Amino acid sequence: MKFFLDSAKLDEIKEAYNTFGIDGVTTNPRHIMLSGKPFLTAITDIAEWIKEEGLEGVDRFPVSVEINPHFTKADDMVKMAREIAAISPNFVIKIPCIEGGIEAARILEKEGIRTNVTLIFSASNAILPAKNGSLFVSPFIGWKEANGEDCKQYIKDIVDIYKNYGFYGKTQIICAAIRTPKQIADCAVAGADIVTTGLAVYKDLMKHAYTTQGIGTFCEAWDNTEGN
Ligand code: E4P
Repeated sequence: MKFFLDSAKLDEIKEAYNTFGIDGVTTNPRHIMLSGKPFLTAITDIAEWIKEEGLEGVDRFPVSVEINPHFTKADDMVKMAREIAAISPNFVIKIPCIEGGIEAARILEKEGIRTNVTLIFSASNAILPAKNGSLFVSPFIGWKEANGEDCKQYIKDIVDIYKNYGFYGKTQIICAAIRTPKQIADCAVAGADIVTTGLAVYKDLMKHAYTTQGIGTFCEAWDNTEGN
């Protein structure tokens, strides 16, 4: 399973890449706002860092950039997507799972501009984007689980549907809005291709009370070993 960082902050992207070897980045309008930069500056800064690192290419390090969320018509979405895609070969255009978005993603994929259909909340939502060749779908986890829904089965259903019809691996499933290490493990068990989350969750991923306790036990043994 690949790990993407869900952030538009360049310092976080650099840290996640250098420390954890993340495989890509996802952003959304909220992350761009949190970067403190104007939209175009934030995405251009990421594009320049990609060049400096020699990571160019959507297959090497995809970065999802979301179009203006006010757009509902395919024409508006396609126009903006073309402008974003021209900035970096790594950019994948994030489009909401609405009728105009499905049409836009279909047009863009035919042109060779890769798309990520986002704001997916059911297995049914995930079918048309795969039929139309989107590179990614982004089913959300955290928003649903915060409201008491368990997401394991919904992700497993998307995996099974994709396997039934030959989409598995072609349209890759990015489990989004991940809040806990447990949700990462659940997505891996279900067969998701990718998870995307913030730096804090990746930092929590290797924490366990017994690891801390074990280091304490071994330090004590080390200190009481003759000759140390
Ligand atoms: C995913 O691609 C989204 O950017 C993200 O996970 C949305 O959720 P959040 O901003 O609430 O984490």
